[in-house]
Amino acid sequence: MRATFDFTGAEALVTGGSDGIGLAIARAFREAGAAVTVTGTKARAEAYPQDLSGFRYLPMIADDAASVDAVAAAFPALDVLVNNAGTAVRPPEAATPEGFARNIEINLNAVYRLTAGLKPALAARKGSVVNVASMTSYIAAPLIPGYGASKTAIVSLTKSLAAAWARDGIRVNAVAPGWIETKLTAVHREREAANAAILGRTPFGRWGKPEEMAGPVLFLASGAAGFVTGVTLPVDGGYSSA
Ligand SMILES: NC(=O)c1ccc[n+]([C@@H]2O[C@H](COP(=O)([O-])OP(=O)(O)OC[C@H]3O[C@@H](n4cnc5c(N)ncnc54)[C@H](OP(=O)(O)O)[C@@H]3O)[C@@H](O)[C@H]2O)c1
Repeated sequence: MRATFDFTGAEALVTGGSDGIGLAIARAFREAGAAVTVTGTKARAEAYPQDLSGFRYLPMIADDAASVDAVAAAFPALDVLVNNAGTAVRPPEAATPEGFARNIEINLNAVYRLTAGLKPALAARKGSVVNVASMTSYIAAPLIPGYGASKTAIVSLTKSLAAAWARDGIRVNAVAPGWIETKLTAVHREREAANAAILGRTPFGRWGKPEEMAGPVLFLASGAAGFVTGVTLPVDGGYSSA
């Protein structure tokens, strides 16, 4: 059974849409009829091996406030904002206060900065925000504490903005991916023990595909979820409930 969504005439922005989960979500919105803008860290879309020609492209470096503000300023009106851009500052930098702060800046502060900057544009369309949380929103991230803290805070931010902006007609939800096969998680697939532990704990017994994140995001952004706000939906092959 195939569920389809119709975003004809809608304008969507997917941050970090140049690769991985964001690119899969951006493609799904485009296939559903939306005009889609993606961001990436490179200056131009042509610098990516992926074909981004069907999207409007804007550069955005999340830990550069001016570049985040420039993206917000590019939209007089917006139907869907997917706050997907993010990364994990790796050890040993991750254990330093500077590394911790940088991960919070990229994965949390920039999300608030962009979303707050786009509030008038979202209100103009009674739009919808979908944030991207993580399994580390709920479980320890011992080697990357800044990443874990940022993703736990995304769940809180999702609830707070949902409550604050409901009367403006703006819904705010999130998805919490399990272990999805992207460049971010390549390091875990390359290590046999880590890969086995992930597969062993995931009831589906496999990695998720970026495309499997798209349906839940489109659902949350669509009219089918018109009375849904403030929730974080795990999309994890059962990982969080096992
Ligand atoms: N993969 C998983 O298993 C998993 C699990 C839980 C949560 N997530 C979350 O899902 C989101 C997407 O991750 P992914 O796995 O698809 O990773 P990915 O393939 O590495 O893609 C990350 C995207 O974010 C952009 N990005 C990275 N650092 C950035 C920065 N400092 N400023 C602005 N943009 C930046 C990247 O741009 P470039 O292409 O230019 O580098 C890319 O477009 C992230 O928020 C991640 O935390 C992923």
